[in-house]
Amino acid sequence: MQMLVLGVIASAVGIALALTINWFPTQASTQAADIDHLFNVLLVVSIPVFVGVEVVVLFCVWKFRMRPGEELKDGVPIHGNTRVEVVWTAVPAMLLVGLCTYAYVVLHRIEKPLPNSMVVNVTGEQFAWTFEYPAQGAGGKAVTSDVLYLPKDRPVQFRVRSADVIHDFWVPDFRMKIDAVPGLTTKYRVTPTRLGRYAVVCAELCGLGHAAMRQNAYVVTPVAFKTWMAKQAGAAGPAPAGGGAKTPAGGDLAARGRQVFTQSASPTCGACHTLADAGTTATTGPNLGQVLKGKNAAFIRQSILQPNAQIAKGYGPNIMPPNFGSTLSKQDIDALVAYLEKVAAK
Ligand code: CUA
Repeated sequence: MQMLVLGVIASAVGIALALTINWFPTQASTQAADIDHLFNVLLVVSIPVFVGVEVVVLFCVWKFRMRPGEELKDGVPIHGNTRVEVVWTAVPAMLLVGLCTYAYVVLHRIEKPLPNSMVVNVTGEQFAWTFEYPAQGAGGKAVTSDVLYLPKDRPVQFRVRSADVIHDFWVPDFRMKIDAVPGLTTKYRVTPTRLGRYAVVCAELCGLGHAAMRQNAYVVTPVAFKTWMAKQAGAAGPAPAGGGAKTPAGGDLAARGRQVFTQSASPTCGACHTLADAGTTATTGPNLGQVLKGKNAAFIRQSILQPNAQIAKGYGPNIMPPNFGSTLSKQDIDALVAYLEKVAAK
C-alpha cells in the first residue's frame, strides 16, 4: 500500500514535469505534430513504468535492509510464482504491442503519398548538401541549389543520396531524418506548414567538416517558390547560392571575393579556414594566410575547384567539399580568386 501510494504520487509528478518541458524545436511540418504527440504519449506511458520499478527497488532497499545482528539471516527460499510471472510477462507485452501499433499507425500516416507532391533530390557529400529539383512540366529545366527552398503546404518527397560516405539529412523543425547511404536512395516525405528559415544539418559523423555541414531551408509562399524556380531555371549555368554575392559599390572584385569568402559560399570558406585578412579563425582546413603565401591565381583556382589536386601538409584528402565549382557562380569564383590572390601577394 505504501509503495502504491508513493508510486502514484511520483508518477503524477514525473508526468507533470515531463509534459511541461518543451522538448522540441518549432513544429514546421504536418509530420512534426504527429511525431511530437507520439513522443508525449510514450512519455506518459513509460514514466509510471520507470517510476514503478524505482519505487519497488528503493522501497525494498529501505524496508528490508540488513540491521546489525542480522548478518547470517536469510529469507525463506522461493521456488517461483506462476501467477506473478504471468502478470509481469503479460502486462509489458500488452503495453508493447499497443505502443508499437500506435507507432506503426503514425508512421503509416506521415509516410503516406499525397496528391500534388513534389520531389527534391538531395545529395550529401563531404561537406555539403545539394538540392536538385527535377524539371517541372514539359520544356522545364532541372534546378540545382545549395539552399533548400520549399513551398508552404505542398507535400514533398526527398530522395536522399550520398556521393561519398554516410551522411544524414535532417531538418530538425520538420522532425524527419534519414541516412544518406552510398549506393542507395533513401526517402522520406514532409509537408512544410510554416513560413520561415530552418537549419538543414548532417546528423551522421562524416569526417572533419561534419559540424560545418549546415545549410538553410526556406519555406516560402507558393508564389514566391514559383518565382524562385523560374529565376533559377532561367539563370545561365548552375544556380549560384542564394543569388550570389552582391557587388559592393565601386565593383571592386577582390572586395566582392572577401564577401564570398565570409558569407556566400556554403559552407563559407571562413567556416573551415583561418584567414587573418577576412577575420576568420576556424581550423578544419589549413590557415590560408600561410599556405597561399606567394601562390598564383591558377593554384588558388585549382585549390577551390579541385581541392584534392594538391593537399596542404598535415591534411588528408576529401576534407574540403569538391563541389564549389557548381555551388558558386563563375563570377563568385573569379571574385574569390582575385581576393585570395591579393591576400597571397601581401
Ligand atoms: Cu555529413 Cu556529417
